[in-house]
This record gives sequence, C-alpha cells and structure tokens, in this order.
Amino acid sequence: MAYELVWIAGAAGLTLPALKRRLELSRAKHPSLAGHSRMAKRLARWIPGYAYDEATFFACDGAPDEVVQQRRAGFFALAGRLRAKAPQSIAMTREAREGLPDLRFTGAYRVPYQFSPYLRQHLQVGGFVQATEGVSVTDIDGNGYIDLTGSYGVNVMGMDFYKSCIAAGARIAQDLGPVLGAYHPCVADNVKRLQQISGLDAVSFHMSGTEAVMQAVRLARYHTGKRHLVRFCGAYHGWWEDVQPGPGNPLPPRETYTLRDMHEASLKVLRTRRDIACVLINPLQALHPNKNAPGDSTLLDSSRSAGYDRAAYTRWLQQLREVCTERGIVLIFDEVFLGFRLAARGAQDYFGVKADLVTYGKTLGGGLPVGVVCGKQELMQRFREDKPADICFARGTFNAHPYVMGAMNEFLRRLDTPEISAIYQDLDATWDARRDRFNARMLAEGLPLQAANMSSVWTLGYTRPSRYNWMLQYYLRDHGLALSWVGTGRFIFSLNFTDADFDDMLERCVQAGLQMQRGGWWWQAPGQTNKTIKRGLLREMLRHLVRR
Ligand SMILES: Cc1ncc(COP(=O)(O)O)c(C=O)c1O
Repeated sequence: MAYELVWIAGAAGLTLPALKRRLELSRAKHPSLAGHSRMAKRLARWIPGYAYDEATFFACDGAPDEVVQQRRAGFFALAGRLRAKAPQSIAMTREAREGLPDLRFTGAYRVPYQFSPYLRQHLQVGGFVQATEGVSVTDIDGNGYIDLTGSYGVNVMGMDFYKSCIAAGARIAQDLGPVLGAYHPCVADNVKRLQQISGLDAVSFHMSGTEAVMQAVRLARYHTGKRHLVRFCGAYHGWWEDVQPGPGNPLPPRETYTLRDMHEASLKVLRTRRDIACVLINPLQALHPNKNAPGDSTLLDSSRSAGYDRAAYTRWLQQLREVCTERGIVLIFDEVFLGFRLAARGAQDYFGVKADLVTYGKTLGGGLPVGVVCGKQELMQRFREDKPADICFARGTFNAHPYVMGAMNEFLRRLDTPEISAIYQDLDATWDARRDRFNARMLAEGLPLQAANMSSVWTLGYTRPSRYNWMLQYYLRDHGLALSWVGTGRFIFSLNFTDADFDDMLERCVQAGLQMQRGGWWWQAPGQTNKTIKRGLLREMLRHLVRR
C-alpha cells in the first residue's frame, strides 16, 4: 500500500505528504454535487434546456386522463383567478420585464425549468406592491397577503417597526444631510452598541452583507498571510466570487475550499493544512447542513428534507472554535441573515460560541441597506506601523451614510427596550410549538405537507412522492400568502406574528393544500417513489442531450 502511494504521488508530481493532504481534502468534500463546485459547474453546462409541452405539463408522471383533466381545469381556474385579482400588478410586471433582468430571472426560476415556459405563458403573477401593515402586504391592485417573504430576512420585527426606524433615522440625519467621510455623532453610539452586542473590539460599516463578508475575508488573509478560505457545503455568503465557487459564477473556484459541514473529515483538514486563512460559518445551514438553500426551482420530487438539531450544531461550532484557535485560523460567523433573528445578541450568544470576526447586515440597517464587520482589534487593523506600504485597503463611498446610521441607531436603541426584549423570550419554544401545530393539522387534513424550522425560518417538506409540489406556491398565493421567488422552500416569519396571525396563515395553508389536492396534483402513480421520479428525469434529460 505504502509503495503504491509513493508511486501515485510520483505520478501526480506530488510528495507523499502533499498527496496525503490532497486525499484528506477530497475526503472532506461532501459527496453531493454541492460539495464539488468544479464538477457541478461542468455538469451544469451539460444540462439540456427543454420544456414540457401542453400534454406533458399535466401528465409528466403518467397520470390517467381523468386526473389530467382535473389538473388542467384546476390550473386554468387558478390562473384565471390570479389574473382577475391582480390585473394592474401583472400588467406592470409584464412591461417591466424587458428592462429588469432580475424580474426575468426570478420569474423563470420559480419552478423547475421544464415547467417554467408553459407556466409563464398561462399563469402570471405580479411583482408590484404598495403598502404594508402588521404582517400583511398589499399589492397595487389592493389585495392583501400575509407576508412570508421576510424581505430576504430583513424583516425580523415587522414592517411597521422598520418604517418607524427609517423615519427616526431621517430625523436624526436631516440637519446634516448625506455628508460622507466625516461621521454623524450617532455613528459613535452605533459602534459602542455593536461592541457590546458582538463582544468584539472594533466595527466597520459597509453597504451590503456581501461587502461585509468580502472585507472580513480580506482582513483574515491580510493578517494570517494565508490565501484560502473555507466555506461549508451549501452555505450562502453573498454573491462575491470567492464565496460562490459553483454554478452561478462564471469564474472557476480560486482560493476556496468547500468542505463538508458537521463532519470530522473537515476538522482534520483544518488541523493539518497550512494554507487556510479563515473559516466562514452561516449558522442557517444548521437547518439543512450540506444542502443549498431550498428553492422550488429544484423541487422535482419530494426528497427535500430539513431538520435542526441545536445541540449537535452547537457541538460542531465548539469543535470549529477549538481547531481554529489551535491553528491560528480566523473564525468568521456570517450573521447577515440570522444575526438578530435568533437572539438580541446574535448567533454567538445563542450558541454560546465566540467568533473572531462577525458579519451582520439586513435587519441591522433598521430597514436600510447595510453590512457590518465586528472583530478583534488585531484583526480589524488595516495597516502595519513597521511596514507602512503594506495595507489592507477597504473603502466604499456610502459607508456610514448618515441616514443608514440613523436608522441603525434607532434599531439598536429599540433592541434594548423591554418590548423588544420580550419578543426574544422563549422564541424557539413559540415557533417550535407553532410548527408542531402546523404539522399536526396537515396530518389531520391528510395533506402531504410537513414543516421543519430553525426558530422563525421554515422549510416546507412534502411527504408523498410527486413531481408537482411546486404548484403549491400558486395555491398559497391564491389564498393570500406572499412567498418570495424561492417558493415554499422558505417561509420567513417576522417576529410580530401573533397567535391569531399564525392561525390565519395556517388556515390559508390548509385551504390551499386541499384545493391543490382536489386539483389532482398529488395523484400518485402506483409504485412511484422519489427514486423512480429521479430515474425518469435522468432518462428524459439524456434523451434531450442525445437529440441536442
Ligand atoms: C448569510 C449571508 N451572508 C451574506 C449575504 C449577502 O448579503 P447582501 O445580500 O446584503 O449582499 C446574505 C444574503 O442573503 C446572507 O444570507
């Protein structure tokens, strides 16, 4: 064996220890495609583009005629209702599509691509809204929806809260105006409060979560003199090149190792390699370790799963803390999404594990765009007294913009009030009990739906093999529930949901599910499993590939 290894190492042009490290790195990759970004990117180029025609759209699972008719009737009735309900919003969306590529992109990826063209042709939804109040959002046609989008995670406290933070921020900054470079005095107060919350020495302000992550990684590289960052499989850290090495980024991965989350093999890599500057953690991955964010565009069967084990994830973070301390690796908590959702002092406090650098964003801006890095003094330093030309450059015209700083100041001050503190009391217990209520009701109604959650962030799972689960998002909309373009993979609740709001939402989910069931979408072919669905899809893709 040893002889064989020497031979392989020689053939690969590597020394034996280097080969061993290479093998350890391979073992620390998750076996899924999400763990192999190069391969995923190569494969993505081969996925053939094809779309179901009218006949296949309703019968790709081999449903018999009467079910196909049921689905067709249900589909056109639903499309008609949605069209009649929101004509202005749909018209404005249609007009804006050409000039707003983002709208075209999100519109195309709401459902699996095979279904997308036919669906877009016949079932349109609008994307323009005009007002919010409590937990509801109103579109430009005057329809109210219960808001489950969470505004990408920004909306932790409810929109009324942010409206008043923004108004207070504007009052704070109004005499100064948008002066940049010199600071409004509220910046000093923000720094003090963030030092307290993070337990870290210094703070820098940026314009988005992506920028905050870029800055944290750059600082880690500067101070360690090492190049590589470690991110965990499936974790989102913004859209900057180095943290998004797979499909979606035209460049190949550079100095990024994507390792397996919650796995000993990854700890071994951290223990042994010498080229790692930092480890980035997005604690939201605790809900679905090693998997990408669950969107309905990949909901091709019912194998989507999620589940959160707080104790196991806490142990994992503790192990990472230990190995990073041992090896001089900078541990970065990316709390841009979860920061103030789990606890008033963030994920560090919630899990009881300290990081070296923490990034925040989203809700911290009090409703305005922001990114923040908090860190230990020695890591936040951007120059060296003894080497004056060796600096770590980071600027940004709009950093510490007075209006954003004002809204943030209001947010941080409110965080200290008894009303907001009360919201965090027994937060997980509240949301876990609501999840249990949701799941029990779905079972009682005979609906194939079960939710998994990490506090107020939920993922909907489907318990019966089906190729049509993604249709549920349109039935939910019909029943007045607003989801983001990722669909039923993410319900993001704001913490101002009362029990009555929740019950209202639950009832609408039940009615939407029952209507979808009556529409025949969950009809199941004898012997159909998630595996048979996947095999069928693979055959279908190969056929199209060969034709291409
Ligand atoms: C954990 C995490 N980090 C970074 C980002 C990027 O933040 P932004 O979209 O403000 O650039 C996000 C955005 O969703 C995020 O969830």
